[in-house]
Amino acid sequence: MRPTLAAFPATRLRRTRQSAAVRALVQENSLSVGDLIWPVFLCDGTDVVQPVASMPGVNRLSVDRVVQAAREAHALGIPAICLFPYTDPAKKTADCAEAWNPDNLSNTATRAIKDAVPDIAIMTDVALDPYNSMGHDGFVVDGKIINDETVEALVKQALSQARAGADIIGPSDMMDGRIGAMRSALESEGFKDVMLLSYAAKYASAFYGPFRDAVGASGALKGDKTTYQMNPANSDEALRLVERDLAEGADMVMVKPGMPYLDICRRVKDTFGAPTFAYQVSGEYAMIAGAAQNGWIDGEKAMLESLMCFKRAGCDGVLSYFAPQVARLLNG
Ligand code: PBG
Repeated sequence: MRPTLAAFPATRLRRTRQSAAVRALVQENSLSVGDLIWPVFLCDGTDVVQPVASMPGVNRLSVDRVVQAAREAHALGIPAICLFPYTDPAKKTADCAEAWNPDNLSNTATRAIKDAVPDIAIMTDVALDPYNSMGHDGFVVDGKIINDETVEALVKQALSQARAGADIIGPSDMMDGRIGAMRSALESEGFKDVMLLSYAAKYASAFYGPFRDAVGASGALKGDKTTYQMNPANSDEALRLVERDLAEGADMVMVKPGMPYLDICRRVKDTFGAPTFAYQVSGEYAMIAGAAQNGWIDGEKAMLESLMCFKRAGCDGVLSYFAPQVARLLNG
């Protein structure tokens, strides 16, 4: 039972808010550079920096440039970088074979970063959408996204990423059974230390719009992802998904998007106590960065506040496009 507060004026809750010193003493949560995973977009070429129109301040980077970015991120203390390739439309097929090409953009970047910045953790994305002429995360047959054949392909993709040197594999596809299948394939191929950060509670969200532009998936996508991504109205289902993925061998779990789903973050953390991450997705970034660009909000403050809220909601860390900017601020 909660003790009853003494009545006013014995209790004046403003006493502990009166000065910066006292506010610092009673602060319950904190945000640090060590909480950040930085998602970056890759593109072909050399010395290429291509602005993403719907994400002011975010660029697609060629491999040489992403190596430089990883070096800077590591110097700022950012523990991990997460790679998302913009795939040449000519390499998108119905069989998605580019997804497990050992020399695809993601694997090439992984090797280059590992070589140059061995101490930053590399996270990769497992899903077929960047490579799929149909734009979906899984194979499409007769208008349906087929589960089990997709999982077989995702396992090949995950293994190719592990061979390239990925430390953390992030399955974002929402197929059933993929975590167990990847975990056993990784174990039997000798990748015992490769981690799985499961996008366990991933919602079918309108907030992914700018990302699909950034990776060039919007044009290809027919229909929506509601037969595999979650209904935003559901919360208990998120717990079942997280429980299932942990039972299949996920080391860490994610809730995605972030800000509209902080209640899910809290429930997941309280229920399982597992390493829990939120993805502050492209649309969330665009809203803050776009409003700031127009002078409608204070961008720095909104960025810091939004990230602190994830900590308050129980997250151990956050994937955020703001990572380098916030790291610079936190480092002074
Ligand atoms: C696709 C994937 C998506 C994101 C990460 N991986 C988009 C989608 O599911 O359509 C979204 C990230 C963001 O919006 O920042 N597998």
